[in-house]
Amino acid sequence: MTAVASRGGVVWAAAGGGGFPAGMSGGLGLLGFKIFEQKRHYITSSSYQSMRSVQILPRCSPISALTNPSFPNTSQVSLKHSLCNDEFVSKLLDRRWDLSSPDAKINQITVLDRNGGGLNGDISFHNITHPCLGEGMMKTSQLFPSFYVVRDDLLHPLVNGNKARKLDALLPLLEDNAVTDVVTCGGCQSAHTAAVAVSCAERGLKSHLLLRGEEPETLTGYNLVSRLYGNVVYVPRSLYAKREEMLARHAESVVGRNGSMLLLNDILEASSRNRATGKQNVLQVDPFKCREKLRKVAIINEGAGDAIALLGLIRLIQYLSKNHLFGKKQALKIVVDAGTGTTAVGLALGALCLGLPWEVMAVMLADKVDGYKKKEQSLIFEFLESSTISGFAPGPSGVNGGIVHWVERSLPRKFGNILKGEVEECQNIAQQTGILVDPIYTLAAWDLSTQLSQSAQEEDAKVVMLHTGGTLGMFGLAQRYRSYFQIPKEAVE
Ligand SMILES: Cc1ncc(COP(=O)(O)O)c(C=O)c1O
Repeated sequence: MTAVASRGGVVWAAAGGGGFPAGMSGGLGLLGFKIFEQKRHYITSSSYQSMRSVQILPRCSPISALTNPSFPNTSQVSLKHSLCNDEFVSKLLDRRWDLSSPDAKINQITVLDRNGGGLNGDISFHNITHPCLGEGMMKTSQLFPSFYVVRDDLLHPLVNGNKARKLDALLPLLEDNAVTDVVTCGGCQSAHTAAVAVSCAERGLKSHLLLRGEEPETLTGYNLVSRLYGNVVYVPRSLYAKREEMLARHAESVVGRNGSMLLLNDILEASSRNRATGKQNVLQVDPFKCREKLRKVAIINEGAGDAIALLGLIRLIQYLSKNHLFGKKQALKIVVDAGTGTTAVGLALGALCLGLPWEVMAVMLADKVDGYKKKEQSLIFEFLESSTISGFAPGPSGVNGGIVHWVERSLPRKFGNILKGEVEECQNIAQQTGILVDPIYTLAAWDLSTQLSQSAQEEDAKVVMLHTGGTLGMFGLAQRYRSYFQIPKEAVE
């Protein structure tokens, strides 16, 4: 192994003929792998196999800062200072999007007791479908506690909520880079894999979906959507546990002999570079014509947990900060349910970049706080890496994660399980407001929003829940938890 070059303070080393930055794979797993690859746009399957690397990092590089638990919080100030820059944000968001506009409906939910008064009894909700927003919102005094809901669940019949936001910047980049095949993974009822399958099919791309566990007897919900639109393989849990390796292997098998693999970070970085230099992405070709000859395969992480997914969330924040909606002065607590945590990080980055007095509170559903903090740091790092090309350079002190407020679920439970009474809670909410939440994800954000609104004073930050969609998940749950879904007699009479 020979040190061959030094770029941006990171020593690069060659192994097996490939030029990669001095390795991070030991400490950072696939994150490290992706970072090495950022300087290489295309990887053939053979070069992919020969990747090796070592770690030789300068002391105060962004990465050493990220992996150092005692890294001082003052770096957040420097991150904030560097990112709070209108030019940076407008450059970042000046791109082709999948959603023709970032708009979403906003509802306001008032929280009442059954008698319509105080709050200690049995809670009920009322939906104000056209709430007063903009300047009027600040002036109106509230009789009852309330919170707002951003209705991203209404964006598309099958690709909605945070799935639509995460794919908003990603899909056009796949097209611009003539990607023919996409490989991704998720649970059996993954809304993410279903969204990828539908979006790919809409564009003539082929999706390869690795679903955890066994094939269910009856296909329903997102599992059914994934099966209808994509190519599904069920993967035993033991293999799925090493999901990055699993994804890479499967992508390799799709690439075949002459194809190539594209990494999302590379695509993002290349697009930033092209936009900075005024170049067009001119790789677009007809995917139908070249599919058999030249496959270009992109891997999307589980839950689209990639830096590229953050852009759609930043776009959403910019939209919500318009003067006729929440504006830029009103303090907000944005509540969201967290699986991989990507949505929460995107929202928080958006608020940070735009200098908004908004705090993101994410209910942890699939991991512990340390896992979420790690994910937050790696996403921010990837995001900064790809933005550096467009003229932004993070301060010398590097970056520190702490931009999301990670919150425990009020009734903790194993991810994917549901507790007695939760289906009824969803049913009550649906009947009282016309909004469907599901017990796995969005009920948690609804509950936290309710609690926060109940304890808020008039002058406190307003509470805004992002509805992350996922309502078809109910069908899968009804299959798994039959007894919880038996409709009481009086409801059918
Ligand atoms: C309905 C719903 N809410 C929340 C999440 C979690 O989002 P994230 O992985 O970005 O934290 C998911 C998964 O994508 C989801 O399907």
